[in-house]
Amino acid sequence: MGLDRWMGEQLLTNLISALVYVLPAYVANGAPVVLVRAVERPRPLDMGRNFIDGRRILGDGKTFEGLFGGLLSGTAIGLVVSLLLPGTFRSPLEPVTLSSGAMLGDILGSFAKRRIGISQGGPLPVVDQTGFLAVALLLAWTIFGPKEWSDAFTLLLLFLVTALLHLGTNAGAYLLGLKERWY
Ligand code: CTP
Ligand code: MG
Repeated sequence: MGLDRWMGEQLLTNLISALVYVLPAYVANGAPVVLVRAVERPRPLDMGRNFIDGRRILGDGKTFEGLFGGLLSGTAIGLVVSLLLPGTFRSPLEPVTLSSGAMLGDILGSFAKRRIGISQGGPLPVVDQTGFLAVALLLAWTIFGPKEWSDAFTLLLLFLVTALLHLGTNAGAYLLGLKERWY
């Protein structure tokens, strides 16, 4: 097997390991869109309050129901992954950390969007698609250390694939009538 072929296979193996590892963050980020629809009147995390700039702290898109639903769903998927592929996580708390980081990243993104004047649901490219993953990995790896697949090229590819998957699933949710906007 040639060197380039070997490197290609290594990269693919790394990418698959990476995607399995970040699954709790993906699920935590995506679950609220579906779950919150089952709630009659979801309660915004910022309780409807404004920041000192007169704009909403976070906006109606970040709710308690979404937060807890995301944390639970992400953790549950982590449990399933742990059973099917032992060794993926170094501690049962790692999927909890990945889910928490994903929710935190999403909330920080909304906070930043409100501060620069983007109202709820408005787009902030790159941050909308990958901010949750950046904070999830930052939090999990601060506590548990990086994973063996985490070289620069695999990470770059992981973020690229995440952005595409995010756009794809959001477009799907829009077509299913789950979301108001396609992105
Ligand atoms: N959601 C929620 N609570 C969360 C995260 C998401 O209720 N903590 C739900 C909301 O119904 C939200 C939807 O999931 O509208 C999509 O999430 P997202 O795209 O992150 O929010 P946006 O509505 O686009 O708001 P923002 O501009 O603040 O990102
Ligand atoms: Mg959005």
